[in-house]
Parts: sequence; structure tokens; C-alpha cells
Amino acid sequence: MTTKPPHGLGRNAANYGDRDFALYLRRSFAASMGYSRTMLEKPVVGIADTASDYNNCHRSVPELVEAVKRGVLAAGALPLAFPTVSLCEPSLTPTSMHYRNLMALDTEAMLSAQPMDAAVLIGGCDKTVPAQLMAAASADVPSVMLVTGPMLAQRFEGERLAACTDCRRYWARYRAGDVTRERIGEIEGKLATTSGTCGVMGTASTMACIAATLGFMPLMAASAPAVHSDRLRMAEEAGALAVRLITHPVKPSQLITGKSVENALRVLLALGGSTNALVHLAAIAGRAGVKVDLKRLDALSEETPVLVDLKPTGEGYMEDFHAAGGMVALLRELRDLLHLDTIDLYGQTLAEQIDAGTPFVDRTYIRARNAPVSPVGGLVSLFGSLAPDGAILKRSAATPALFETEARCLVFDGLEDLANRIDDETLDVTPQDILILKNAGPLTPAGMPEAGYLPIPKKLARHGVKDMVRMSDCRMSGTAFGTIVLHIAPEAAAGGPLALVETGDRVRLSVKERRLDLLVEEAELARRRAAWQPPQKPKRGWDKLMFEQVLQAPEGADLAFLRPEGE
Ligand code: FES
Ligand code: MG
Repeated sequence: MTTKPPHGLGRNAANYGDRDFALYLRRSFAASMGYSRTMLEKPVVGIADTASDYNNCHRSVPELVEAVKRGVLAAGALPLAFPTVSLCEPSLTPTSMHYRNLMALDTEAMLSAQPMDAAVLIGGCDKTVPAQLMAAASADVPSVMLVTGPMLAQRFEGERLAACTDCRRYWARYRAGDVTRERIGEIEGKLATTSGTCGVMGTASTMACIAATLGFMPLMAASAPAVHSDRLRMAEEAGALAVRLITHPVKPSQLITGKSVENALRVLLALGGSTNALVHLAAIAGRAGVKVDLKRLDALSEETPVLVDLKPTGEGYMEDFHAAGGMVALLRELRDLLHLDTIDLYGQTLAEQIDAGTPFVDRTYIRARNAPVSPVGGLVSLFGSLAPDGAILKRSAATPALFETEARCLVFDGLEDLANRIDDETLDVTPQDILILKNAGPLTPAGMPEAGYLPIPKKLARHGVKDMVRMSDCRMSGTAFGTIVLHIAPEAAAGGPLALVETGDRVRLSVKERRLDLLVEEAELARRRAAWQPPQKPKRGWDKLMFEQVLQAPEGADLAFLRPEGE
């Protein structure tokens, strides 16, 4: 045995002068796991196994890994599962976003360093799918994305509940004194009752739909429920597809193109999808050298209707979207707005994928173009003196009566200040004020958390105030709603104009003009700028690396050194 096979365990064998010996060693160690010689000579499919006792959304991953392995073995390759970082939204401090790039870095390194001819990436929870697609784009290893799938909604006293729009809805009622402590405790056990990702069109679901649009999985695989047997068949197919990619390679760099990213933006808009998806798509596209332009997003938003009626903006759950025809039905409806010549991992064009699907559609959840949920897209970008590099607003989740607001602002200096004062009975605030949170962007130790959904001050909530204009340099949950301006760039910690805003300043939001302006004299701003203190650098570890390398929201808050060379 002296020749290096073109694939399988022989791939990327270390070369310390005697490559044959390196391969010999690798095989003898792999043989200790009980594989036959025949198995060790097969091509290899790596499986990113993100099961974790901390990640409820990935509870089904062990079962999915088994099903992927069946698919790989039946198609004639050797499946090798490996662990990576796994991120679950509610389980991480300061926020899962702070670690998305770590998971992307880990996954990229393992995809590149370990011998594999193709990969299946098993993700699901909000940050995992973006991290894995960023990794795949950089490693450029042919990779199938397999999501865990959405959880089922739980029937409860004549309604249905699923994480996490209903969590927020009930919590807001509890804060307003409308739901008792006992009742909120009872509901706690009903909000997430099966394995899988949040059951609404939050970030996880939006990213699954985007991954399918980019071609990383079959279209219906974006929405099949986590607990359905179809999900296991899809896992088996993902294994077989990965093996097919060895002889018919389609690389991530062929999937992530200017056209497919624009299709993904259209889908994001038509879904009324999560604002977070915009940051993640910018990061994924950026790895492939494709830029997501906020002005372009805005132009697309003007001509892309919202067609999907799911929570948090509408009525249904992901299981309804799937049963209504899922991504096939949605893309068929959007057909004339899409670039139909983008391809998927089978090499099929988008047009072929749409045509191959069943023609069924349930109009309750996926509307016709002439009867949309909204004639324009769910997101708009804003620019102005408060956001020179842009900000975004999910207008489909906002209150139109607040779209044109000029008002006094109440500023919170950071998360701690917000927590300390928002429910203070003596807080000087009226429903007409604009609430502003600063120092919560990607550069801060908070790591751009989902804190942009500032709570309505208790003293106002009690009197029935449900929405106010809120602004920040952080994100909000894909399952949240309100007139909320997010991702203001540059962020306060980078010395953006947001850093200079003070309580009492007047701020103007105009959705019609797509503007966000700070109405303060330049001389006064210059005085404040001179007094501004940059934040302290973290001393070590991941926090330090993030601080030194993290880019702003319009670049996806990726790490600068992980972008393609020459940028
Ligand atoms: Fe994992 Fe919502 S917490 S998808
Ligand atoms: Mg979320």
C-alpha cells in the first residue's frame, strides 16, 4: 500500500516527508474503531454532529446522524460524524451571536483539516445554520445542509402555542398585570413541547428557508417538522446526496452567488422573515465575496410582497407553512421575481426545482400575488445622520401609525442601565417618546444581543401601551414585533453618531423617506464627540479576538480575517 487514493481517508494526509507513512498511520488508527479494510478505502462523508445537552433545538440530532449514516452507507461511502461547537439561543451568555463566528471558525477548520470528500452539516437553532454555511463557504467543501426542522405547536385551551412568539405575547400580558404568576408558570411548560426549532417564522425558520433558496438542501426540507418521519427520510437523502456530490461536485462557491443571494433576499422579504437573517445572510454571502447591499434590499422590498402568513407577524406556525406547500409553493408564487437559473446541489435550476414540486398550495398560509399579506416586503433599510451606514426596520411587525415620528428620546447607555431604569416608576417617559439603547452592538461585551426589543416601561404597559418607537445598535429576536429600528451602524461602541445621542435630543424616523436622523446641531455634536471615550479592550481570549476583528452589522458582524483574502 504505497499510493495515495484520490479520496477518502487519503485526502489531505499530512506530509512530514513520508506521505505514505502518514496515511498508513491514519488507517491503522482508524482501523482500531473496527472498520474493515473495505470500509476504510471508501470515500468519506463527514457529518457535523451538533447534538448537545445544552441545545434543545438539536434534541433529534443523534437520530438524524443515524439516518444520514444509513444514506451514506447505502450509497457506498463511509460516514464519519464529528462534534463541533453547538449553540442554543437561550443557553448562552452574553448571547449566542457572540459565538456564531466561533462555531463558524471551528466548523471551517474541521471541514478543512479532517479527511472528507463531502459533508452533511446538521444545524437548526438560529446561529448554527449561519455558522455552518459560513464555514462551508470558506472551506468550499461540497456540503449538504440538514436542519433539525421546526417543533410542533401545542394545543392549549382552544389555542395553539409554540416558541417563541407566544412566549413573548404571554410575558407582555404578565408584565401588564393581565396574566397571573400561576398562569404564566403553567404556560411555561406548554411553549416548547417537541424537539426542533422555534415553531414560528423566527430566525431558525427563516435561515432554513434561505439555505434551501441558496440550494444547500431540497426545498421542502426547509420546513418538514422535526418529529415527522419525513425528516428522517430527508436525513437519509442528505447522506445519499453528499455521496453523489463526490462524483458530481457542486461546491458552496457555486451556490452562493450574486443571483442566489438576491433570491434569498426576496424570500426573506416574502416570508416577513427575521431581521437577524439579514445579518447572517450578509456574513454567509461575504464569505463568498458577495455583498448584501442595504439599499438594494430596500429596492427589492418595494416590489416583493409578503405572502406568508405566519407568526410573529401573522397567524400560522411552521407546520402550517409546510402543509400549505412550503418553499415550493412560495417560490412558485414569486417566480417572475426570481433568478431562475441558480442551481442546487443536484445541479437542478431553481425553475426545475419549482416545477418538480407538487402544485398544491393552501392560500390560508401562502397567499397569491394578487392577494398578499402586504403588497410590499417585510423589511426596510434606513439611512441618515443617526445611521450613516444603515439601520433596518421590520415594517411588517411594526405599527404604521408610528412610521413617521419625530420625538424626544430617552437614552439608555447600555444593557445594565436599561435593566436598572426601564421599570422605575419615576422614569420620565411618555408613550410618544423614542426609547434608545446604545452600546449593545457587535463590538461590545454584550455581543449584539437580541435586546433591541426594549420592553415597554411597566408604568406605560399597565395603561395599555403596546408599542413605542425603539432604536438600538443590537438585534431583536426573529419572533418579536414592534416599531423597532435595529442594527444601527456604525454602532455606539465604534464611535458612531449613536454614541453621541443624549436623553432629551430630538430624533426623527421617517419610513416613507427611509431616514433616521438625529436633530442636534453639529457644534453640539462636535463637543460631545471630543468628550467621547472609546470602550475598553477585552484583555484575552475570544472576547479580545472579537473586539479586534468583528465587522459591523452591514458586513454580517463577521470577523475581518475570515473574509476572503484581498477584502
Ligand atoms: Fe433554537 Fe429558537 S431557540 S430555534
Ligand atoms: Mg430566535
